[in-house]
Amino acid sequence: MKKCSMSKRVWIALLAGLTLLSVQTMAGAAGPAAAPAPNPPVAASAPKLLTADCAKCHSKAPADIAAAGSKHKTEISCQDCHNGHPPTTRKIIPLCSQCHEGKPHYKLDACQGCHSNPHTPLKITFGNKVTDACITCHATGQIDKLRDNKSKHSALYCSTCHDVHGKIPNCTQCHKAHFAEQTTADCKKCHQAHMPKNVTYSDKLPSKDCAACHKKAYDQLTASTFKHKTLTCVACHQAKHKMIPQCQSCHGTPHPAAMLSKFPKCGFCHSIAHDLNGFKDGAAPASAASPAAAVTTTAPVKKQPKKK
Ligand code: HEC
Ligand code: HEC
Ligand code: HEC
Ligand code: HEC
Ligand code: HEC
Ligand code: HEC
Ligand code: HEC
Ligand code: HEC
Ligand code: HEC
Ligand code: HEC
Ligand code: HEC
Ligand code: HEC
Repeated sequence: MKKCSMSKRVWIALLAGLTLLSVQTMAGAAGPAAAPAPNPPVAASAPKLLTADCAKCHSKAPADIAAAGSKHKTEISCQDCHNGHPPTTRKIIPLCSQCHEGKPHYKLDACQGCHSNPHTPLKITFGNKVTDACITCHATGQIDKLRDNKSKHSALYCSTCHDVHGKIPNCTQCHKAHFAEQTTADCKKCHQAHMPKNVTYSDKLPSKDCAACHKKAYDQLTASTFKHKTLTCVACHQAKHKMIPQCQSCHGTPHPAAMLSKFPKCGFCHSIAHDLNGFKDGAAPASAASPAAAVTTTAPVKKQPKKK
């Protein structure tokens, strides 16, 4: 029953009639063997409304509760919330705070802005500008990451991404992948949703993920013939984007100390790690003519690098 503009009189008649009806129905159900019903008690006092009666006049609320009442169906009944009935009792719409208090979440305004139907309390809808309400429950974690690691995501509302409660959006809803074959599942290999600029990764990351943006380094390394070619990018650039490794973290002291103090930069002879001057097994680096001469007289100590 939605908007109904019955007069009080019609109403009282209706409620009284209903009680009469149920009494008669009960009498009828008792079968022909039963003794004739005594005078119905209607006249004695105002009818006592039972929860079972509600559905005789109201269809939507009982149907909603039956379908999705969740704990408003299992833990309480209509009359725990609707105490009495008009016209005898006028105000029978409860406040949420009658039963829900003591948590930050219950201090929000406009409960029904999200729990739009109290008969289906877990069917929640909200607009696309919600953050404060989310952090009444998700008080740490996501919000800390967003605040402590400023990025453009920090300026978005939680609900810009999570438009339905509990739903996880795909990054590719809003962004293009870095290369064609990359999927949303791949994004997590480097980015975290709530701190997307802190790019970190595991030592299992394939080099093609880096190649999307560093084609030159990738091409140079894969085209070479020296042993670095067998390493993935992240074997050297470990864990965190823009990390640059020290040659000696893997190679220790590959040459006599005297030589290294004279030529402290490995790159002076070996160029950069992706190229190593075209270093081939046992051969001197191509463009290291004079330093190489120095090296050959003081043959470098063969030292196996730590393998990852
Ligand atoms: C005999 C029919 C009948 C029965 C039985 C009945 N109602 Fe009503 N109910 C009405 C009518 C008629 C209205 C008034 C609608 C109006 O004034 O807009 C109403 C209004 C209401 C309202 C709205 C009150 C408001 O302030 O807006 C609630 C809530 C309600 N009923 C709950 C119940 C519950 C709970 C039960 C069972 C315990 C129940 N009703 C049983 C007929 C009934
Ligand atoms: C958790 C408390 C709660 C329970 C349980 C509950 N209601 Fe309600 N009901 C409300 C509130 C709050 C409103 C006011 C809704 C609004 O403002 O839109 C309401 C509104 C109503 C209305 C008037 C608006 C409408 O939807 O027609 C009726 C009728 C009603 N309830 C009947 C029932 C019946 C019947 C039951 C049991 C099957 C029931 N309610 C159970 C809280 C409850
Ligand atoms: C008469 C008491 C009463 C009123 C009034 C009431 N609730 Fe509840 N509500 C309960 C109880 C009892 C539970 C189950 C225990 C709990 O989760 O706290 C519950 C549970 C809930 C749940 C969780 C449901 C689930 O299945 O997990 C939501 C959401 C909720 N209420 C929202 C509301 C909102 C919004 C209002 C106001 C429109 C409201 N309640 C009014 C008693 C009430
Ligand atoms: C911005 C939307 C929003 C508003 C406003 C809101 N809620 Fe909630 N509420 C939620 C979400 C989301 C959940 C989590 C539901 C779930 O766990 O699936 C929830 C869960 C609940 C629960 C069940 C879990 C618990 O902590 O007990 C209750 C009860 C509840 N809300 C009551 C209220 C009351 C009372 C108000 C008003 C003071 C309110 N809510 C205002 C979104 C909202
Ligand atoms: C009343 C408390 C409450 C409110 C308010 C609430 N949540 Fe939740 N949320 C929960 C609970 C409880 C879970 C289930 C947790 C779980 O499964 O570990 C959950 C789950 C989630 C999940 C899914 C987690 C997963 O691991 O899949 C996301 C995403 C989420 N909430 C986002 C939000 C956003 C965004 C808001 C604000 C619009 C919000 N929540 C408001 C209590 C709440
Ligand atoms: C609902 C849309 C949406 C979703 C989903 C989304 N983003 Fe964003 N993201 C944005 C917007 C808007 C910006 C800011 C763009 C701008 O201003 O150019 C942004 C910016 C970024 C930035 C740049 C941050 C900065 O401060 O420069 C990165 C990195 C990023 N997103 C990665 C991701 C990843 C990874 C995911 C999935 C975990 C994701 N985004 C999911 C909307 C989204
Ligand atoms: C840019 C979009 C975006 C924004 C803004 C955003 N999230 Fe998320 N959120 C995601 C994505 C994507 C995931 C899935 C992350 C994953 O799978 O590793 C996620 C996961 C979650 C989870 C599941 C647990 C976890 O941490 O992985 C919760 C809870 C959550 N978000 C809550 C929030 C809250 C609360 C806010 C606002 C303070 C928020 N989110 C803001 C995109 C976003
Ligand atoms: C191999 C790690 C890696 C993977 C996998 C990855 N990204 Fe990135 N992404 C980065 C790096 C590094 C940057 C930052 C470049 C910089 O500092 O400017 C970045 C930047 C971004 C930006 C900011 C704008 C831009 O293009 O510079 C967005 C948006 C973004 N990534 C989205 C995604 C999405 C969506 C996915 C999954 C489809 C994804 N990323 C997968 C490493 C990765
Ligand atoms: C989305 C594009 C993108 C992806 C993917 C990406 N990078 Fe970068 N990278 C950049 C940008 C942009 C810079 C900054 C270039 C500059 O400052 O000139 C950069 C810089 C670097 C630097 C140099 C830092 C310095 O101090 O000069 C290294 C090393 C690097 N990236 C390694 C990697 C590795 C390894 C991967 C794969 C795990 C990777 N990058 C994935 C975009 C990306
Ligand atoms: C993450 C560890 C790591 C880092 C950092 C590293 N290397 Fe290597 N390097 C290796 C491994 C592993 C090999 C192959 C060793 C083998 O198979 O015997 C190697 C081989 C070499 C070789 C021999 C190449 C060949 O084909 O025989 C040279 C020369 C070399 N590295 C120089 C350098 C220089 C110079 C740097 C710094 C610019 C550097 N390396 C940084 C791990 C590393
Ligand atoms: C003065 C030139 C020069 C400098 C400086 C130099 N190297 Fe070398 N390096 C060479 C030459 C020449 C060889 C080849 C020697 C041979 O095969 O015996 C070589 C060989 C190597 C090898 C391969 C050894 C093997 O087992 O095959 C490694 C690894 C290496 N250098 C690492 C480094 C590192 C790390 C540095 C900086 C700390 C460095 N070098 C500095 C000239 C240099
Ligand atoms: C053997 C270790 C090693 C491997 C493997 C390696 N790098 Fe590097 N990379 C370095 C070192 C060391 C530097 C600093 C320059 C130098 O001293 O050689 C560097 C510099 C860079 C730079 C900044 C300078 C430039 O060339 O733009 C980028 C970007 C980069 N690497 C990306 C990559 C990518 C992408 C891969 C995989 C295709 C990769 N690296 C593989 C060790 C390595």
